[in-house]
Amino acid sequence: MEAAQSSTEHATRTQLNRRYMVLGAIMGLLASTVLVVTVVFVTEGAYTDVPKVDPRSREFRGVWVATVENIDWPSNTSLSAEQQKRELIAILDRMVELNLNALVFQIRPTGDAFYASQLEPWSYYLTGRQGAPPSPYYDPLQFATTECHKRGLQLHAWFNPYRARHKLANYSLTETNMARRFPQYAYVYDGYVWMDPGAADVQNHTYDVIIDVVRRYDVDAIHFDDYFYPYPAGGVEFPDTATFQAYQSTGGTMPKSDWRRDNVNKLLKRLYEGIHAEKHYVKFGVSPFGIWKPGHPEGIEGFSQYDSLYADPKLWLEQGWVDYLAPQLYWMIDPPQQSYPALLDWWLDQNPLQRHIYTGNYLSRIFTDGWPVSELVNQVKISRDRADRLSLGNIMFSMKPFRDNISGVVDSFKSDVYSQPAMPPVMTWLDTQAPDPPTGVKAGEREITWNMDQTGVVQTWALYRQNQDNIWELVHVLGYNTTSVKVDAATYLLRAVDRMGNESSDVIVTVS
Ligand SMILES: *[C@@H]1O[C@H](CO)[C@@H](O)[C@H](O)[C@H]1NC(C)=O
Ligand SMILES: *[C@@H]1O[C@H](CO)[C@@H](O)[C@H](O)[C@H]1NC(C)=O
Ligand SMILES: *[C@@H]1O[C@H](CO)[C@@H](O)[C@H](O)[C@H]1NC(C)=O
Ligand SMILES: *[C@@H]1O[C@H](CO)[C@@H](O)[C@H](O)[C@H]1NC(C)=O
Ligand SMILES: *[C@@H]1O[C@H](CO)[C@@H](O)[C@H](O)[C@H]1NC(C)=O
Ligand SMILES: *[C@@H]1O[C@H](CO)[C@@H](O)[C@H](O)[C@H]1NC(C)=O
Repeated sequence: MEAAQSSTEHATRTQLNRRYMVLGAIMGLLASTVLVVTVVFVTEGAYTDVPKVDPRSREFRGVWVATVENIDWPSNTSLSAEQQKRELIAILDRMVELNLNALVFQIRPTGDAFYASQLEPWSYYLTGRQGAPPSPYYDPLQFATTECHKRGLQLHAWFNPYRARHKLANYSLTETNMARRFPQYAYVYDGYVWMDPGAADVQNHTYDVIIDVVRRYDVDAIHFDDYFYPYPAGGVEFPDTATFQAYQSTGGTMPKSDWRRDNVNKLLKRLYEGIHAEKHYVKFGVSPFGIWKPGHPEGIEGFSQYDSLYADPKLWLEQGWVDYLAPQLYWMIDPPQQSYPALLDWWLDQNPLQRHIYTGNYLSRIFTDGWPVSELVNQVKISRDRADRLSLGNIMFSMKPFRDNISGVVDSFKSDVYSQPAMPPVMTWLDTQAPDPPTGVKAGEREITWNMDQTGVVQTWALYRQNQDNIWELVHVLGYNTTSVKVDAATYLLRAVDRMGNESSDVIVTVS
């Protein structure tokens, strides 16, 4: 299993060879800074006295920042560009304070863009008018990506594939919006404007929009949520008869429900392949509705995404069309009809290719429904308890409670489940190439310094401190642009970490 594998891997690589210790001591003596005691470069070997890396150093900790209806950011469509940037920075700084490690940023909620696009209009939710760029001009996705990476955070770009307008929206669509570009496939349904997933034009357009972002922006992942075909509105059929008939007239034999699922499946498969063909390290993740079908597992009741959203995440895991799946387990731990642990256990059993499973948690229930903060803290613990079965983290919906410290949620998480930093777990099926180790590592007075990365592959620097039990505890995950850190007197281990989360060999440094 993944988690077990990586901790074994760490243990092996922290075993020192005496030869390197001697070499390190000599290099330490040669170093000009008086405060340097030893700098040890470790590449291989079998020295027995060396401690292990704390396995808690790996966990995915994401948060959704929703832009549709201005849920999390920007707080209002009438903010200036400067105010928007300030709000985003406050969110990222709060994420660092909370030891989170991934922003899931909604950049295309309704066939619109939170970035400069030739294919789609600027979002209404940014400026209050679809098609109007921020003023003074900046590119929010570019800005968010750069600022995330400086802080050692991943940025997952979140797209809604088919929604062209939200039901609560009341603004006019520009002629570059997909609903006006392909009006024959744009349907008003339950107050939304929804594109037909069965139309090749729609499939191609959504695909092109996403690949364009993969090409032009340094995003870490592409993310979809639970919206595929729309949630059914009181017995009204989704009006795709013409598209289905066109399919049948070209010899298609699938029943309508299978055909609809196939339309979604094809987009996912094509995206999985297309994204990785562009950049092998850009991950693809989906956070589907938390129930596949009622009765799975036994006793679970509720809505069937398989039969109503035409989404089949069980198949996507089986086929390996996602790098991670984040089922939205938006219910409490106890009630048996949608039990959080029962559903999580079921999803963990549907994962033959050993992809990562991160649970989606409904953090906002603490202010919408009065859930105690302890419910969410306990849910994180339940997910964490199953790390050996590839339950490797959580994504919180949404940022607002963390942003506004609703019910003291910041301190509750920080003093308990998120008291220490963690790095996203490694996806070994994408890459296992290790980066080069840090160079120029020196101990100064209560400080460690090193050289700026020249290779371009370093995403973060991981700093571990040796504790009394001889375990290396992760104390800092620093952005690629960092070259120094203030520390207390202790022995530390610094590693370079690449985009896949793979770590370099060790550089050990003692600060006196
Ligand atoms: C945005 O600000 C305006 C003016 O202060 C206010 O009338 C409006 O309700 C705000 N909108 C939201 C979504 O908060
Ligand atoms: C790295 O980025 C952070 C966040 O923007 C900034 O505070 C810091 O000064 C930058 N460091 C360097 C060495 O550029
Ligand atoms: C939507 O816009 C129309 C036309 O501008 C206006 O008459 C109507 O009151 C608006 N509805 C809402 C809910 O804001
Ligand atoms: C959609 O894209 C595929 C692959 O590029 C292409 O073969 C097909 O002709 C396109 N269909 C339409 C309707 O544009
Ligand atoms: C969050 O709220 C709690 C309780 O109101 C308070 O004690 C704490 O100082 C706040 N923390 C932050 C980071 O604002
Ligand atoms: C990191 O890269 C090394 C060298 O290619 C490889 O042996 C190792 O398995 C990788 N580690 C992880 C956790 O992926």
